[in-house]
Formats: sequence, C-alpha cells, structure tokens
Amino acid sequence: MIGERARYAHITGWSRYVPDQILTNADLEKMVDTNDEWIVSRTGIRERRVAAAHETTASMGAVAGLRAIRTAGLDPDDIDLIVLATLTPDYWMPSTAALVKEAIGNQRAAAMDVSAACSGFVYAFSTAQAYVTSGLARHVLVIGAELLTRFLDYTDRSTCILFGDGAGAVVVSASDEPGGSLGLELTTEPQGAYMIWLPAGGAKSPPSAETVKRGEHFIRMEGRETYRFATRTLASSALESIRRAGLRPDDISLFIPHQANIRIIEAVAKGLDLPMERMMVNLDRYGNTSAASVPIALAEAVNGGRVAVGDNICIVAFGAGFTSGAATIRWTADPARGIAGDASVDPSTVHVRLPADWDSVDPIPPALAELMARPDPLNIPLDDVVPDEPAPARTLVS
Ligand code: ACO
Repeated sequence: MIGERARYAHITGWSRYVPDQILTNADLEKMVDTNDEWIVSRTGIRERRVAAAHETTASMGAVAGLRAIRTAGLDPDDIDLIVLATLTPDYWMPSTAALVKEAIGNQRAAAMDVSAACSGFVYAFSTAQAYVTSGLARHVLVIGAELLTRFLDYTDRSTCILFGDGAGAVVVSASDEPGGSLGLELTTEPQGAYMIWLPAGGAKSPPSAETVKRGEHFIRMEGRETYRFATRTLASSALESIRRAGLRPDDISLFIPHQANIRIIEAVAKGLDLPMERMMVNLDRYGNTSAASVPIALAEAVNGGRVAVGDNICIVAFGAGFTSGAATIRWTADPARGIAGDASVDPSTVHVRLPADWDSVDPIPPALAELMARPDPLNIPLDDVVPDEPAPARTLVS
C-alpha cells in the first residue's frame, strides 16, 4: 500500500450494470398468489432484473467496476484496494472481490468483501474513505453487487416480489482539493438481527439435506418490523451525516436512498420536510437490489443529469443487522464522463475465471427458470401461436 495522507476522498468514477432479463409483476402473478396492483401500491416496484445462468455476483460487479474505472479515466492497475459489498457472494471463500480483481485485470490491489446487507455499499464507501484519507490507498474501487434472485423462496409472496439483481460501483480517490465525502454516519442495531436473515448455510446451521428440505437457504423477513426500522433510521442517519458535513437538509440537492419501498422513501421525504423531487427513485425498474441499489441509483442519477459539480448529495441505506449508513458528498467530477465510461466496456468481454474440472449445478431456481425460458419472439413455433392449427410437418435433417 502506498500514498500520503490526503485531506479528502472524492468520487472520480461511477457506473452500474444490470442484467437484460426482466421479471415483471405479471410474471410473478403466474408463480405466487399476488397481483400487480398489490405490489405497485405497497412497494412501488413494477419489474426487476434477473441474472442469466452464466452471470454471477462477481461478473456483474466486475463489469460495473471496470466501467467506473474507465469513467474515472484510470487503468485497472491504478486501483490500490477493491472493497465489494454483498450478501450474495459467489462463494463463501474466496471473496467475491478477489474474483473481481482478476476479472478486471488488476495485478496489484488488495481485495476484500464487506457484509452489511443493504447498507453494505455505504459501509464499503466509508472503508474506502478511511483508506484514502489515512494514506493507505490512493484509488479504491467500491462495488455493491447482488444476485438475490437465487436466494428467494418463490412460494413466499412476501419476499420474492421485492428483490432483483445488479451491480453498481464508484472509484474513491485521494485529493487535497476540498469536496468529496464530508460526513459519515453508520449504525448497527443487533436487536433486529433476525428480522431479515438467511437461516442456514453458516456455522450455526451448516448446509444439509434437512436445511434444504426446510427451505432454510432462502431470505426470510419480518416486513412490518423492517419497515418501522427503515423509516426511523433512514431519516436519522441522513440527518446525522448532513450535520457532520456542516450542512442542513435543505443544502442537499439530491438524496439517493436505498431502493426498498417507495412508501419508505416518501416517509423519509416527509420526515425531512423535503419534496419527492429531491429523492432519487428507480425501484420501479429494479426492485430492491440490496448493496447494489445505492450505487446503481447514484450512477443513473449522475448520468441522467440530476447531479452537477458543486452539488451536495446524500446516500443513505438500511438493511439486515439491523444496519444503516449515510454519507454526505460534495460532487466534484464531470458528470458527462459517466456515459462514455459505460460505453467503453462490453459485458461480454469481462470474464470471471472458473475452476478447472468443476461443474456447478444449474444456478437458476427451477420456478424461475421455467418462467424465464420464454421463447425468443422471432422464433416461436407456429403451433404455439395458433393453438388449433395442425402441427407443421417437421423434417429431420441429418
Ligand atoms: N401479494 C398480495 N398480498 C400479499 C403479498 C403479495 N406479494 N405479500 C403479502 N400479502 C398480504 C399479506 O398476506 C397480508 O394479508 P392478510 O392481511 O390477509 O394477512 C397483507 O398482504 C398485508 O401484509 P403486510 O405484510 O402487513 O403488508 P405491508 O403493507 O407491511 O407490506 C412489505 C409488506 C412490502 C414487505 C413491507 O412491509 C415492506 O416493504 N417492509 C420493508 C421491507 C424492506 O424494506 N426490506 C429491506 C430488506 S433490506 C436487506 O438487508 C435485505
């Protein structure tokens, strides 16, 4: 590790990656007893993304990470540290960050994962700030990446409608110019530890045929308790981080909250006495992508022209643990760089190496696989389109 102490930690690169496949509320109606009206009115979510079988948390994180590096105008080897927040790592070990390091072609960074559920990105961002301002690193790649659709019980309508897949990333760089991260607040309230949890697979309840049979490898959640915690803590964490930055809520031009539920975001806006125009919202298109939600929303806000140089923004999240975190940031990078950075990386060129001589089982949950295996619209067999038509004669070509 290198460097001298820097006074400030600026965001110099940002990006996101989401898979192409879309799972709509209408699709979910075919799987569980739910309906579009209930999901939209109770959560604001209309659709979410589902990773393809060849994609993983590391592969999505690597694409977002490489795009953020390009946006910053850096090369992968300029990165000294990779911090990746996730609750859905590719493996228990190695860290997903280590796989990302290899996939982006970095030879020299230290790499580690951070586990703080949906608050993970803010925790990882604060780690980056600490490394940069202490002189331990000059450029840190911070990634939030999640593949939640592989950890959902598609018979539990209270959870399977909420979550989606994706990744977002920023580069945090050392500078003596004022700006960047100005105020942080992080909290952990373990009395909420079992309000959102994944019971089995860890040391307390190792994987077994019995844990699989009991469905203990899926996310469980007490929605109401989580909702209460979220509305209370998002506002208080944001306020504390703004206060530490020496600012007032009215000085913040855009809040980028964790995208869990539109009603939670509306409650926060009301609590801070701010109009909804100051809240970034994209959960209608992606659902809750946990640690990826804030960096995806941040990249879309900047690339969509909602953040200008000199603006104060506040990222704020809550999640399992219960954890929460907020950072107040003065934006200093040219927003126009983001779109070019995104275009510079084709996802099909980014590969996460697999071990030799090893085949994992099909990663897509069967209920989801059936639904997602829709025929290509240009290649639908004629007998599917016109059910009463006799099946066309098929010729065997050898
Ligand atoms: N479709 C139709 N009906 C449903 C569905 C569904 N998908 N899910 C639940 N219901 C029913 C319930 O069975 C219940 O029926 P009943 O009254 O006959 O018993 C009724 O709707 C109300 O259920 P509630 O759970 O009370 O609904 P609520 O308004 O609280 O909304 C929700 C549930 C959306 C989960 C909400 O509580 C919420 O958003 N909580 C916060 C969740 C969250 O933010 N999680 C973040 C996780 S962060 C992390 O770290 C992973």
